[in-house]
Order: sequence, then structure tokens, then C-alpha cells
Amino acid sequence: MPRMERGTYDQDLLALLRNARHIVALTGAGISAESGIPTFRQAQTGLWAQYNPNELATAQAFRQNPRLVWEWYSWRRQIVSQAEPNPGHIALAKLEELTLSREASFTLITQNVDGLHQRAGNRSPIELHGNILRTKCFDENTIIEFWQDAGDIPPHCPHCGGLLRPDVVWFGEELPHEALRSAWEAAETCDLLFSVGTSSLVEPAASLPYVAIQFGAQVVEINPIETLLSPSANYVLRGPSGIVLPELLLAAFGRQLDET
Ligand code: OAD
Repeated sequence: MPRMERGTYDQDLLALLRNARHIVALTGAGISAESGIPTFRQAQTGLWAQYNPNELATAQAFRQNPRLVWEWYSWRRQIVSQAEPNPGHIALAKLEELTLSREASFTLITQNVDGLHQRAGNRSPIELHGNILRTKCFDENTIIEFWQDAGDIPPHCPHCGGLLRPDVVWFGEELPHEALRSAWEAAETCDLLFSVGTSSLVEPAASLPYVAIQFGAQVVEINPIETLLSPSANYVLRGPSGIVLPELLLAAFGRQLDET
């Protein structure tokens, strides 16, 4: 049965944080909630309240109404650009730094497309679902960094004239193969995996903590509410990641946090 901790953290967990050979952090929309970015299962706000993300985030929706889908992502890109990494993102960047400084490994795997982990300082997050700040050609599937703004919505690919789209994984699309391979390998080789701010509903990301358990890792869930993963986690830290992660690092590393 997982140990429910908050505030005073289990000494075994703190020792693991300080000594694990390979730490993995798997994050979902919840870690960005305290940066003001709505999670997927929260209602869409304002203008987009009447739309269901599952109906907009698909290649079929884009083919049927490219302008609507492009504008929905423009709205989300604007929210993301105005957001700042919160203490939860910053704590994971600090944990990476502390882990690498003792010659151990750290892998950050995110389902989020907001790029906030990079902005917080994590070196090379594995972006399972892409990144909303990158754009690609719908036909060639190649990243496009510059294009002529002729006022078309969506804009057109400068190479083939096809439509441009956000570089995010839509429902029914395959995840980037190399990202998924690296994430799976990290889950198989780590000895400590954090599942932070995810409802653990969407595959294949939702399987990663179970892979880690199967290969002998300890799993810690950080989420204000119960999820499907909770009963299988070794530790369940019930609270917002922006509070829990900094608290956990302070309990494990104390003054060392100021030295790094
Ligand atoms: P969800 O919206 O499904 O789940 C967000 C989780 O974060 C929930 O379990 C919340 O309880 C939790 N949460 C909310 N506030 C939090 C906080 N301050 N700190 C910690 N946790 C908090 O988002 P995801 O699990 O990320 O896929 O969704 C997974 C995927 O479903 C997304 O990547 C997206 C969506 O379909 C694609 O776009 C392909």
C-alpha cells in the first residue's frame, strides 16, 4: 500500500532522492496548472468553451477546418508564451542539476507541449506529444522555422505550399518514435520514477510508471487527487506539485540547494 506523505517526508524516499542511480520524472498538464495553463480535463475557458479538445486536436478536424484548428492553437500558444515556469518546474530542473552533479542519470519525460521544462532549465526533456511552439508542414511532416506571412490562416509551407500545423501529436497519431523509445528505455533502467501532474489515462505515457515498477523501480506520484496509478505507487504525495516538489527537495537536500 503506498505511503501517503505530506510535509514530513519518508526518510527512505529522501535517501532515494540523494542516492538513486537514475531518476525519471514523467510530467503531465498538472505541473503547468500553477503556471496558469488549464489542464486537459479542466473545462476549456472562454471563447473555446464550446469546443472539445478531442474534436479539435485531430488531423481530421484540421482537414475539415484548418483555420479553426490553427486559431485554437494560436490561442493556446499565446497562453503558453505568457506563462512562466512555476516552482514545480524549477524544482525538477534543480533535481536534474543535483542528480547529474553526483554522476547519476536524470531523464525528464513530458506529455506537455508548453516548453516550460526547457525554460525552467531542464537540459533535454523528452517531449512525447511534441511542442506547441514548433510548427511543421502537414504534408511533408518537416519542421518549418520561417515562412512568408501572406496573411493566410493557416500559413503555407515555403517548400511545397501545403498547410502548416503545430508540431504536436494529435489524437490517433503516432508519437515521435525516438522520443517513445528513449522514454521506454528510461523507464526500464531507472530506480526512481516520479509521476507528476498526470491523470495517468492516456497511453502509451500512462504505461511508463508500470514499466518502471516491473523493472524494480520505486514510483512516487505527486497529484492533488487519486489517479489510476495511485494504488500501484510506492509513495503518494497528495498536493500541488508547485508546493510538494520544492518541499521534497528541501527535505532531501537542505542547504545543498543553495550551494548548487
Ligand atoms: P490531465 O488534464 O488528464 O490530468 C492533469 C492531472 O494533473 C490531473 O490528474 C490533476 O489532478 C492533476 N493536477 C491538477 N493540478 C495539479 C497541480 N497543481 N499539481 C499536480 N497535479 C495537478 O492531463 P494529462 O494527464 O497531462 O495528450 O493528459 C495526458 C494527455 O491527454 C495530454 O498530453 C494530451 C491529452 O489528450 C495529447 O495532446 C496527445
